[in-house]
Amino acid sequence: MVTSSSKNFIFHLIRCAALPVVCFSVSPASAQSLVTNGTFEEAIDPWWGYTAEEFIQTVDVLEGRMCSTIEVGGENYWDVIIGLSDLALVAGQNYRISFSASSDVDRSIRFKTGLGDAPYTDYFLRTIKLTATPQTFESTYLNLREDAVAQFQFHIGGTPGVVCFDDIIIEPVAAPIVPPYTTPSLTGHALKDYKAIIKMGTAVDTPTFLSQPAHNAILTGEFSMFTPANSMKMNIIQGTQGVFDWVETDALLAFAEANAMEFHGHPLVWHTQAPAWLEDGEFDRDAMIAVMYAHIDALVGRYVGRIPYWDVVNEAIDKVGEVYDFRSTIWHDRIGPDFIDLAFQRARLVDPNALLLYNDYNIEVMGNAKADRVFELVKDMKTRGIPIDQVGFQGHWYITEDGGSSGLPDAAAVRANMARYEEIGVGVQITEFDVRIGLPITPEKQQTQARVYQEILQACIDAPNCSHFTVWGISDIDSWVPSTFENFDSAHLFDASFVAKPAYHAFTNALALLPADGTVGAGTGGAGSGTGGAGPVVTTPTTKSGCSYEPRPISAASGWRLVFASLLGLALLFRRGLSARARG
Ligand code: XIL
Repeated sequence: MVTSSSKNFIFHLIRCAALPVVCFSVSPASAQSLVTNGTFEEAIDPWWGYTAEEFIQTVDVLEGRMCSTIEVGGENYWDVIIGLSDLALVAGQNYRISFSASSDVDRSIRFKTGLGDAPYTDYFLRTIKLTATPQTFESTYLNLREDAVAQFQFHIGGTPGVVCFDDIIIEPVAAPIVPPYTTPSLTGHALKDYKAIIKMGTAVDTPTFLSQPAHNAILTGEFSMFTPANSMKMNIIQGTQGVFDWVETDALLAFAEANAMEFHGHPLVWHTQAPAWLEDGEFDRDAMIAVMYAHIDALVGRYVGRIPYWDVVNEAIDKVGEVYDFRSTIWHDRIGPDFIDLAFQRARLVDPNALLLYNDYNIEVMGNAKADRVFELVKDMKTRGIPIDQVGFQGHWYITEDGGSSGLPDAAAVRANMARYEEIGVGVQITEFDVRIGLPITPEKQQTQARVYQEILQACIDAPNCSHFTVWGISDIDSWVPSTFENFDSAHLFDASFVAKPAYHAFTNALALLPADGTVGAGTGGAGSGTGGAGPVVTTPTTKSGCSYEPRPISAASGWRLVFASLLGLALLFRRGLSARARG
């Protein structure tokens, strides 16, 4: 149900997107801290400490600071918590959160606003690193939820030791002003300028979206599409059976629509980030099918006509013994392998116009055993008339610590893989691309990274059935990499200060060439050199329909190149049209 407060809030977001300066200079009604005791001169009250039974912490005032002394900690951040209850949070209001913190041993902690009880929804969540010297941490975030009794929590986790906090402030503030965005592209054209040929997308995680105006400026300045990184995962969107939490996805989708961007639904049926009620509950085949249908009906049904692509099933194939086959998951084990067919049929029924994807990793390279098994699966589905339109090649790659390429794809084999899907009438999207670097980061590794970004984008541009290229995150500021892969980082196009890396420039070089059928088209960019960012690229914009930029004045020579590129472009579009029709 869309409540009137969530409707107002969506309107607020649309206004913000359309009129950022006006919107972001609105002042808050009052700027008083919601925290009643944040300085801890004598007592910690009304703050409280919590541990699951087997863990032990004592929370007390030590030298005018609130300190947790952990004797026995757990494995998870949330095994040891310090919190404050009954914060009145207003939807659509920005809050500044400020505190100082230290720890006698180096450790990461998280802080959040959100629910204190299951499903423990996070309204805003950030992970930070503490050191022995007290540091002040500042965040401003846009609160999406109306809640008169929200909690603020520090999740301090496992390692025994002493963690101290002081000077805690949570106060309403005016929204930050979004600076106007200028693309760093040396061609003068942002990634989205080529959307008539290929749509460039990224993943957006809600905490970053809510707290980083500079990230959102790049999002709308560079990309023509995005995928929610987490908000549609089942543990978030259906944390309690039958209760759907649309707040984050509604806000992200409203933002996409206000900025004329496409939205990629991700994922409908996945075994990871599943809610506890589903993992721990007892469901026989029929009950599990009912759960799956209810989830698909609710998500696809709510957004019919607004979400053109859905990752219907995510990561269903894995190594089973010596071969690749159906992964043992809650879905497979309770329903059987036909859960995939059933999911696609149901999604098609609910939104007949949405394109339906099977999405997975390590399936990009032809000849890879998993890639070959997934091709077999998809081909079999097509043969039996199961409504599958596209395959999502996730594209998570890595450069080893010593700079080695064992974690990098062979671009020719990726091209061959795209081609065999074309032959069976199935489209391809690169859905989650990133190239993480084994530490330390060096200029050489960054050049290798740039080369891989460019090669795979080029493969997608050249393949008539590859329509989208989505990178899994814009910058290193909100990367999933460091917390998932120890000793890896710097996987994305922009660094933690939002500066474009060589990979970004390699990307724009590849786009500037506008090739068709492997032939070089317009522009004189350096694609193929593998040294993105080496120097300015002189490009001639195309005039393909759907391009969102005004062509710049051009010289006679480049005018001929433009004519040539346009013809090639038309040929490419024509081929795409044919293969789209073939997909049907
Ligand atoms: C990742 C998110 O980016 C992280 O924020 C989250 O903690 C874990 O999941 N394959 C997928 C994505 O299909 O949903 C995953 O996203 C990355 C791997």
